[in-house]
Amino acid sequence: MHPDSTASGDELPLIVTRPPGEHSRTFLLRQRHTAVPMGPAQSTGGIVYATATGANVIDVDGNRYVDLAAGFGAELVGHRHPTVLRALSLQSERLLHALGDVHPSDAKIALVERLAALHPEPEAQVLVAQSGSDAVSAALKTALLATGKPGVLAFAGAYHGLGYGPLAACGLRPSYRTPFAAQLNPAVIFVPYPDTRERAATAIAEAARALAGGEIGAVLIEPVLGRGGVVVPPAGFLAELERLAHDSGALFVADEIWTGLGRSGAMLASVAAGARPDLICLGKGLGGGLPLSAVIGRRSVMAAWRRENEVVETSTFAGAPLACTTALATLDVLGREKLVARSAELGASWLEELSRAFTSAAEVSVRGAGLMLGIDLGARPGAALAVVRSLLEQGFIASTGGGQREVIVLTPPLTIAEPQLRAATSAVIEAVEENC
Ligand SMILES: Cc1ncc(COP(=O)(O)O)c(C=O)c1O
Repeated sequence: MHPDSTASGDELPLIVTRPPGEHSRTFLLRQRHTAVPMGPAQSTGGIVYATATGANVIDVDGNRYVDLAAGFGAELVGHRHPTVLRALSLQSERLLHALGDVHPSDAKIALVERLAALHPEPEAQVLVAQSGSDAVSAALKTALLATGKPGVLAFAGAYHGLGYGPLAACGLRPSYRTPFAAQLNPAVIFVPYPDTRERAATAIAEAARALAGGEIGAVLIEPVLGRGGVVVPPAGFLAELERLAHDSGALFVADEIWTGLGRSGAMLASVAAGARPDLICLGKGLGGGLPLSAVIGRRSVMAAWRRENEVVETSTFAGAPLACTTALATLDVLGREKLVARSAELGASWLEELSRAFTSAAEVSVRGAGLMLGIDLGARPGAALAVVRSLLEQGFIASTGGGQREVIVLTPPLTIAEPQLRAATSAVIEAVEENC
C-alpha cells in the first residue's frame, strides 16, 4: 500500500502495522546481506522509507509518520516542498550536469552570488561541494593556505563529518577516529564544549593555552553542538572564542551545517551570537533534499587559493545544477515563508513546553535553539534509543545524540504543522515517562 504521494504533508501519524512491518523487515534483511552494516541502526529496528511529503514519511508498509528528524536536518523546508520540486523539474528539463569549474552552469553562479550575500562581510566568496564533510575539509584547507598553520582547535563532542580532514577534528566518539589515527592530522587539540558560564571560562582558558602554542590555523566550532547532544553554549562564548582565535592569527570557522539557514532560529547562529566567522560551512538543508554544501569565506581569506602553482578544491559534481537550483528554491522558501522567525518562535514555545513537562523528572533536561531540541536523559547510556524506538511505534521519527546516545534529538522540518508538533509533544512526554 502506497498512500497518495500528493498528500499535504501535515497529517498526524497513522500506524497500520507495528513498525518495523513485514516489508521493512524484508528490505532490511536484503540490505544486511549486501550493504556494509553501520552503527546501531540494526538494533533500533529501522523502517524503510517509501515516500515523504512535508513533515510526513510513509514507510514501505504504509505506516505514516511525523518526521522529527527531517533526514538529519536535510529536509529543512519539509520533504518535497512544492517550490523545490518545481525548480527541480524545470532544471531537469534543461541541464543535469555542466563541466565543474571549467564550464559551470548558470544555476551555480546564481547560487554562489546568493550564498556570498549571507556572509556578514561584503564581497565574500564561496566554494561549493556535496557533503558537509566536504565543506569542512575545504574550510580546513583554506585555513591552512591562509595562515600557514596546520593545527586545528576543535571541541569534545563535536561532529564535522567523516572525511579525513573533519574526522581528525571529530570529538564525538573516539571509536570513529582511532582506527584511522595514523592517517589523520596530528595537530588537533580538543577542548571541552561548554554548556554553562563556568565551563565556558574553563574552555576559554584551555583554548587560550592551545592557541598560545602558535600552531593553530583554524578554530572549528559548531555554534550549537548537534550530534554531540544539542548543547547550546552560554551567551558570549562564541564571540569571545572568535576574538581569541583572531588575536592568535587563527581563523574562526563556524560549522553551520546543522545550525544554519534557520534551523537554530537564526539564519546563522554564530553571527546571531555576536561572532564574526572567517569561514562559514553550510550543508544539510541547503540543497532542499539534494546533496550540496558550501563554504562562504571572507574575500581576503579566500584569496589564499590564488597561487602561482595550481592549487584547487573541486570535484566532478561540484556545483551540480540540480542541487544548485533546489538550493536557490530552498533559500526562496526560507524567505517567503519566514521560516527563520517561525523556527525561533515555535522552537522557543516547544522548548518551554517540554521543559515544563520534565521539571520533576530526575536528571532529564531539555535544551536547544530554534527547532533544534535535545532531551538529555542524564546518566542513562543508550536510553534515548529506547525512547526513539517507542516514538517510532507511535508514528514519530526522531534521532539520538550525545556520546552515550543519551539525548533525544528533535529537528523537525521548519514547516511542520502546529497540530503535528502538539501531537509530537504528547508522544515524546509519554515515551520518556515510559522508558526512564
Ligand atoms: C555540524 C555538522 N557538520 C558536518 C556534518 C557532516 O555532514 P555530512 O554528513 O553531510 O558529511 C554534520 C552531519 O551530521 C554535522 O552535523
